[in-house]
Amino acid sequence: MTTAPALTPKPQEAPFAPMPVTVSDKLARLRRLRHDPLSYLLSLREEFGDLAYFQLWGLRSMMLSNPEHIHEVLVKKSHLFVRARTQTQIIGRLVGQSVLTTDGEFWRRQRKLLQPAFHHKRIAGYGAVMVDHALKQAAGWQSGQTLDIAHEMMAVTLGIVAETLFGADVSGTVDQVGQAAEMGQRAVTEQSFMFIPIPFWLPTRQNREMRRARKALDSVLMPIISERRKAQQDTGDLLSTLLLSVDDEDPTKRMSDEQVRNEAMTMFLAGHETTANALSWTWYLLAQHPAVEAKLHEELDRVLAGRSPTLEDLPQLPYTEMVIKESMRLYPPAWIITRVAKEDTTIGGYRVPKGTITIASPYVSHRDPRYFPEPEKFDPERFCKENEEHLPRDAYMPFGDGPHICIGNMFAMLEARLILATLASRFQMRLVPGQKIEPVPLIALRPRDGIQVQLQSRSPQVPDGRD
Ligand code: HEM
Repeated sequence: MTTAPALTPKPQEAPFAPMPVTVSDKLARLRRLRHDPLSYLLSLREEFGDLAYFQLWGLRSMMLSNPEHIHEVLVKKSHLFVRARTQTQIIGRLVGQSVLTTDGEFWRRQRKLLQPAFHHKRIAGYGAVMVDHALKQAAGWQSGQTLDIAHEMMAVTLGIVAETLFGADVSGTVDQVGQAAEMGQRAVTEQSFMFIPIPFWLPTRQNREMRRARKALDSVLMPIISERRKAQQDTGDLLSTLLLSVDDEDPTKRMSDEQVRNEAMTMFLAGHETTANALSWTWYLLAQHPAVEAKLHEELDRVLAGRSPTLEDLPQLPYTEMVIKESMRLYPPAWIITRVAKEDTTIGGYRVPKGTITIASPYVSHRDPRYFPEPEKFDPERFCKENEEHLPRDAYMPFGDGPHICIGNMFAMLEARLILATLASRFQMRLVPGQKIEPVPLIALRPRDGIQVQLQSRSPQVPDGRD
């Protein structure tokens, strides 16, 4: 039997980054990873190719840039790779034990339980609510007005998640939830890059912020849960599914309030931030690419002629979908996906010892010139049917892949297309000059200080013979 080549730091093994040997080199890498992870991870691919191997504070890490290797970890050998415990523990401090922070039997049970809420038939029923929320948000918009489009998108998607999944109106709490989510995410991200586990009982700034964020989010969510627990009604939404679900082994046992809260909090956070960021980056890109914007307007005007979109219109709006996909290529809301090898295994034929952390970064993979020539160019044509068919699986993976693939991916794509179609028919955005717009990689990739735009209302250019 031949043994797979070991991951050693020998320079002649070209794909692997040399292991940092000096303490100052280690510190320099850690600093770059903490302060500018996007460019650090990009530089690893540029420097070392498909597989970059490095060690930080004794943690063996591998950065994967080949779609086949990523596929091996996320799909083919998903049973051998689990979520990093430190990462799930840290996120767990915010949302608790849920489908997002667990593996194994507990995760399987929760995923199975939640899945029906994301069935495509159920999601189709959410379309009208999504359009309504977009219209409501834009009702107060005036031509010439400047606003932070990132904040507006957060408000729309938060309202949609609350109504579709929890049957609740949270319109009065958008700022509270937004600030708490940001504070919680920042604390989670900072702790994730510390590499030295910080116990939750230590009164560090991050732990204090995480507690504050949790408390603020609980104050919005817990009253909704307890009210619905009292009502004992099946309203057919996700919260009903959670409240009424029974234990497989003991049908008299229901999910505890804490467990319901954990899953609800997970959906609340995972379900609005990501899509809001995808949309914010889309407006940012459209504002700078008038030719793409004009093509989008042409499609919307031709198909919708000024009315609001419905689910049935979506097959006639392929360019709208291509714009969203291309925007998520450049600014994937989930910019990093990590796993840990739970036993000795191989990737691409190379030996991977137990405990190795694998890093796949949609932000980096989506800039691979082998699959996306001129990677920094915003070009939705990359996602026309013919071009998309030629992309290898996992060269583009905004929603991940394998058993942990985003449970809300259809929900998010439906929502993003409907919101974009509704609003781009009526308004276009111009960036307010003089602002610095920078992506900051928290749990989601968001614009650091929002995106200030000036609104310009528009009327559809209806083709001859239609009104
Ligand atoms: C554009 C929007 C979204 C993006 C880019 C996105 C991205 C992702 C990615 C990459 C993963 C996999 C993480 C991994 O493998 O470790 C994931 C998982 C997940 N997402 Fe999303 N997501 C989006 C929207 C949503 C929405 C709308 C919901 C819920 C309403 C949601 C809920 C979840 C949950 C619960 C998981 C964990 C699934 C599991 O481990 O079984 N996401 N998401």
